[in-house]
Amino acid sequence: MKNIAVIGAGTMGNGIAHTFAQHGYKVQLIDISEESLKKGMDTISRNLDRMVAKEKISEEQKTETLKNITTYTDISEGVGSASVVVEAATENTELKLKIFRHLDQHTSEDTILATNTSSISITQIASAVSKPERVIGMHFMNPVPVMKLVEIIRGYNTSDEVTKTVMELSEKLNKVPVEVNDYPGFVANRILMPMINEAIETLYNGVAGVYEIDTVMKLGMAHPMGPLQLADFIGLDVCHSILEVMYDGFKKPKYAPCPLLTNMVRAGKIGVKSGEGFYDYS
Ligand code: CAA
Repeated sequence: MKNIAVIGAGTMGNGIAHTFAQHGYKVQLIDISEESLKKGMDTISRNLDRMVAKEKISEEQKTETLKNITTYTDISEGVGSASVVVEAATENTELKLKIFRHLDQHTSEDTILATNTSSISITQIASAVSKPERVIGMHFMNPVPVMKLVEIIRGYNTSDEVTKTVMELSEKLNKVPVEVNDYPGFVANRILMPMINEAIETLYNGVAGVYEIDTVMKLGMAHPMGPLQLADFIGLDVCHSILEVMYDGFKKPKYAPCPLLTNMVRAGKIGVKSGEGFYDYS
């Protein structure tokens, strides 16, 4: 198992490609445009520089890592020789179903098809392929090269063999895989998103300001980032859509996105990537 295809060169995709390549895997990084691939490769290079500067890796390891990645704009060509495909495209159900229908046609029956989705049902994604046993969730955390966890999500039909292989593969990346079942939000976001939503509700209710809420959680609970800063980092649009998936899936009011979160998303203040969220990044 040496060839890994990664679909999507955005934040998660380039972090996943970086991590596999750094651990000696040949990575086929796929995106729809040369421009997105270049942006992804530039990010990988910058993050490797950061690791060289911190003496985590050598300059030679950086060169080797970059050499392990080949880029493709044609998905059929890119997934060709891969034994595992990790899909990290935009979080959109229709798009993921389309990609998996395509993978069903262009990969061999024993290629493992993993998705990095943070909230879409693995069982639903797997319904797009003729052998759903080979579909699994491989949910990396951002920033991927740094965070130790991989949440491994078993869809309704995922086989024991595929689960075992993906657990072992994650360990080879020096990560800690944790196996969970396929229900809305899985485990990571089922617990994280209500906390973020509650922090926003606390702000919305005027109990305390942004700095105060984040400081309580950072210094009081030893979280590396306060929940509002973390929401900006993840993207308020992403937080909103994950809460909607849980609200829809469980039909419980506790998962309803706070109106302030909805308003900020509508206003385009979605955090670091837009230059403004709870904090100003301009
Ligand atoms: N690539 C490589 N290295 C990176 C990096 C990247 N993209 N980003 C940060 N680093 C490294 C830094 O070089 C630094 O290394 P050292 O420990 O050797 O010094 C280390 O990570 C810490 O970085 P910084 O010193 O720059 O900054 P920091 O101490 O504030 O840490 C952080 C940054 C790691 C992001 C930290 O703030 C943190 O852990 N935040 C919480 C992250 C988190 O909760 N992520 C999960 C989000 S939820 C998710 O992803 C799933 C979902 O579905 C929404």
